[in-house]
Amino acid sequence: MTDVSPEIIFNPLEPGYTDDPYPHLHEMRRHDPVHASPIGSWMLFNYDDCFQLLRNPGLSVDEKNLDTFDEDRMKAFLEAVDGDAEELERTSILGIDPPDHTRLRRLVSKAFTPRTIEALRPRIQALVDEALYHIAEQGQADIIAELAFPLPFDVISEMLGMPAGDTEALRSWSEDIVKTIDPIITEDEIKAAVIANRAMDEYMAGVIEWKRENPGDDLLTAMIEAEEDGDKMSSKELSDQVSLLFIAGHETTVNLIGTGIADLLSRPDQAQSIRDNGLEMNGVDELLRFVSPVQMSRRITTRDVAIDGRDIPSGTMVMAALASANRDANKWGPNANELDLGREGAGQHLSFGSGIHYCLGASLAKLEGQVAIGSFIQRFPNATIVEQRFNGRINLRGLERLIVNVASTVDGGILAG
Ligand code: HEM
Repeated sequence: MTDVSPEIIFNPLEPGYTDDPYPHLHEMRRHDPVHASPIGSWMLFNYDDCFQLLRNPGLSVDEKNLDTFDEDRMKAFLEAVDGDAEELERTSILGIDPPDHTRLRRLVSKAFTPRTIEALRPRIQALVDEALYHIAEQGQADIIAELAFPLPFDVISEMLGMPAGDTEALRSWSEDIVKTIDPIITEDEIKAAVIANRAMDEYMAGVIEWKRENPGDDLLTAMIEAEEDGDKMSSKELSDQVSLLFIAGHETTVNLIGTGIADLLSRPDQAQSIRDNGLEMNGVDELLRFVSPVQMSRRITTRDVAIDGRDIPSGTMVMAALASANRDANKWGPNANELDLGREGAGQHLSFGSGIHYCLGASLAKLEGQVAIGSFIQRFPNATIVEQRFNGRINLRGLERLIVNVASTVDGGILAG
């Protein structure tokens, strides 16, 4: 039951929020689940409202449809970084509407089939085994640096067929760019993102040029060649999709693997069930529900929309708080705040969004999570957490450091493995 309290304000800047947002999200669900935030956007906290919003076909993801879209302010930013308006034109499928979205998503998914993904299993297992070997050798290691970050990064780089050796630069641009999806950002962060986007664009243009001359058996070659009814992606469209796949391919899955392992290590009964039965895909879904590696997604109203008796005007940013929907007791029952790998219907979580923008990489992310988390838990039955630190992000929330001691389990078998 909603206990309406007009004073409550969603404030992700509250101390401690990014370490544990769930008590605050619980309060929002209780007191104001359809919330008009003082910064102009609206936020939805209940499962059903989030689900309906994401699947509502008339809504947009194109920020030009925002009533508050401030062209002058954007121009001022661009002047400050010596840029022009064309630079801001983004064509990635996450930020465009049909019919362009339909056309481009079809071309990208063509090169991204379930068969291509499942074929990656042995390679993913090999990368995980290598990481676990190094962790065992060290005895005490940072699981984010050794496994959760490099695995998805290496997998998406190899899938795309990116040249090796540019990890540091790519990682830092990518970090600056993803900050812009937090609901509250500073002007300096916007400027840093514009500069990083420019560097990423230049880099991708070079890579695509090189790939055209050196085609291979990889996703980028397939995307260059993807064509339907004579329709191909323009160079700009291609570069934007590659950047999106690259960024979405590693900035999210790191949170599933890192936070997922930490949550299991502090719940020995759940970890034991993996050692007994393996980590089934339903268990991966339950971890996705519990962790919510992407905590919110958005839609923009293109007409007045009524939700739960509240009227949201046209041209408004509406955020679906996926992390809150994933813990809504009205959907998940009284144990919504518990991790239960055997939970029936765990796959109905909203961690990958819903509707036409449903995550294109969902099956890849689940495969990586299954192999990495399942193998780690099985290999290190006595692992204990020494230290953990969250990354301070509101949306792509996860651990940036997870020091784990596995020393008591290092024996001949593991080192030989
Ligand atoms: C645990 C990992 C991941 C999570 C939690 C996640 C979550 C999401 C979410 C919430 C959306 C927006 C959906 C919506 O608004 O309805 C999305 C879109 C997308 N994701 Fe993921 N993602 C993950 C991994 C990946 C990976 C590995 C890739 C690619 C290699 C990827 C590629 C994409 C793309 C291309 C879109 C845009 C789809 C569209 O707009 O049509 N994601 N993802």
